[in-house]
Amino acid sequence: MVWIEISKTSEIPIIQQVYVKIREQILLGELHEGERLPSSRELAETLNVSRSVILEAYDQLIAEGYLKSKQGSGTFVESGALLEGFPTFKETFAPVKPFYSITNNKDSLIDFRSGVPCLEMFPRKKWARIAKDVYENIDTSLLGYSSPEGSEELRNTLSNYLYKTRGIKCLSSQIVITSGATQAFTILTNLLLKSGSKVMIEDPVTKEIPEIFMERGASIHPIPVDEYGMKTELLSQERQPSLVFVTPSHQFPLGGTLPIQRRIQLIQFAKKTNSYIVEDDYDSEFRYSGPPVSSIQGLFPDRVIYIGTFSKILSPSLRLGYLVLPNSLVEKVKTLKRYTDYHSPTIEQVILARFIKDGHLEKHIVKMRKLYKIQRDCLIKSLKEEFKERVKVSGTSTGLHLIAEFNNISFSKKILDEIKNNGVNIYPVEKHTLVKGHHNNKLIFGYGNLTEKEIEAGVRRLKKIIV
Ligand SMILES: Cc1ncc(COP(=O)(O)O)c(C=O)c1O
Repeated sequence: MVWIEISKTSEIPIIQQVYVKIREQILLGELHEGERLPSSRELAETLNVSRSVILEAYDQLIAEGYLKSKQGSGTFVESGALLEGFPTFKETFAPVKPFYSITNNKDSLIDFRSGVPCLEMFPRKKWARIAKDVYENIDTSLLGYSSPEGSEELRNTLSNYLYKTRGIKCLSSQIVITSGATQAFTILTNLLLKSGSKVMIEDPVTKEIPEIFMERGASIHPIPVDEYGMKTELLSQERQPSLVFVTPSHQFPLGGTLPIQRRIQLIQFAKKTNSYIVEDDYDSEFRYSGPPVSSIQGLFPDRVIYIGTFSKILSPSLRLGYLVLPNSLVEKVKTLKRYTDYHSPTIEQVILARFIKDGHLEKHIVKMRKLYKIQRDCLIKSLKEEFKERVKVSGTSTGLHLIAEFNNISFSKKILDEIKNNGVNIYPVEKHTLVKGHHNNKLIFGYGNLTEKEIEAGVRRLKKIIV
């Protein structure tokens, strides 16, 4: 017996509803092989719909082999259309837990997530003005497939910009535009690593980065970090790595800047072991004291792979980052990029190129640096006022986050849950460690996307739990 529920207010056409429900019942075995379906007239009357609707749904099911029609005797379920394990409609459309969500309800939850820029300050008007012009006037040929390395205009613009701001020595032909730094990590994993390869990596480090390197079976060798960054004297030559991963301008998460002596040590190590240095420069544009730090790439372009991103300077939603490669790797990376997604979206790249060329990026950075400095100072002041000598703040010179180290506390899941229940999302350094147990009393405070009021309120709420 066919039992169908349809909704006349649904956006799904009734024919489609009837078709889907009967098909599902056949695949699930609720309607058996050989079973006779009601005539189109009967079913149309039962459902109070027009007969042509039922006829059309039946016709489609007959055409796809679910039903057969026997002249003069009716419509029957065809054989061989039962599918074991077929998911029901409800199972198929069960809500999926979002992989990552930004807290929108700022009143109820104050989120100190790191690495998120001030989204309110995205230069919407300037970006939109350039976007309009690009959409209206872009060369028609650029609307087709382009080369995997990305827009020539953006790569030319970037090579000038990077030399001026970061001391990077490269031709535009050494740049490959990627979908954020994350895609650059994945491409390098596929290019340089295989089962048994070794990666030396800072510890702590953004949790996902060693996870990406391990996707190809590489073994990870953590090198501890102090207030200056990776302790390069601990790099061991016995374990010849394929690559060494560092965030030298602003170590994530502890915040150190790698001194020249350690940079040289790192370069010497890479030379001796014939390994690559992967330099991830994710947020160094926002340096609050002292001159900007130059890249390691500028010291040793042959073996350094430099990675940059626009996620922190502008917005993570753009998904635009880039690799600056030694010449020997360019062609291989282009092939892998092409096999991944052909190339990153051209129009966004051209908009970004114009945004940089017109001088808007530099102005935006200057403006945002001032704003982030105010937010950072407010956070330092609030932490000091609430926790006095119980807290030690570090890693404050650059970027969108800092570290607060508390006396006599270990941030267990229970405490973090309690803090969350009290309206604050906060992130422990321990989450990003490879060797556990050395940073239990440290928290990462991202302040880029919070107002001063929210920062103050968040620290006050925290104080209620960490008494
Ligand atoms: C150390 C580090 N590098 C790079 C990135 C940027 O990733 P993407 O450019 O893919 O947004 C992040 C993201 O938080 C990060 O923590």
